Amino acid sequence: MSVNVAPSILSADFSKIDAEVAKVVRAGAGFVHLDVMDGLFVPNRTFGPDLVKTIAPAAGSAIKDTHLMVFDPHRLAPEFIEAGSDIVTFHYEAYETDDERWNCIRIIQRLGAKAGMSVKPATPSEVLDPFLSELSLVLVMSVEPGKGGQSFMPQSLDKIRYFRAKLDSFHSSAYLEVDGGINEETGALCVQAGADTLVAGSYIYGHDDYAERIRRLAAL
Ligand code: DX5
Ligand code: ZN
Repeated sequence: MSVNVAPSILSADFSKIDAEVAKVVRAGAGFVHLDVMDGLFVPNRTFGPDLVKTIAPAAGSAIKDTHLMVFDPHRLAPEFIEAGSDIVTFHYEAYETDDERWNCIRIIQRLGAKAGMSVKPATPSEVLDPFLSELSLVLVMSVEPGKGGQSFMPQSLDKIRYFRAKLDSFHSSAYLEVDGGINEETGALCVQAGADTLVAGSYIYGHDDYAERIRRLAAL
């Protein structure tokens, strides 16, 4: 099975975002990774649900993989799902209590989308244990969330191994995705550790030949 490649449009040229999305999908990307930042959970701000609507025709059947780096993601999730997000991933660290996290998962699922949860580099993997059986995607952050172009943190590989073992132990079909500093070398390490979905921003969009870069990651 080939690796799922999820180009992060954060590194794309927003003046021609439709074309930028169409290009990666034509090149074989099965996911389009959408990084939503609120300026609070992370210092930067990016875009809202309108962008998902804008790129939806260009994305075609690719999974609109929405990564919410925001506080109170349950407030924003409905608008993104309405706009066409297929998977909505929020951060464990966005809430203080498990009740709030469950509430967010339920809201996402009730609206017909798949729920994912992510952990920042300093958050221990075990905190996701109670939620794993309900998640459709687990996202391991391999950089501090907030911006593209950072270096991969090798400690993330232990997390990937941890989640691979846990998910396999109950035959979960959840995607195990890694995000941050992915290129051919770091991507290969992640796949060996058990990841099946690689987010890549600068590695894909920082290169002239998107198709070639996507092919290389997919073949890892
Ligand atoms: C970081 C974002 C990533 C980022 C990846 O907060 O979640 O998706 O765009 O960018 P690269 O691949 O350049 O590290
Ligand atoms: Zn992301």
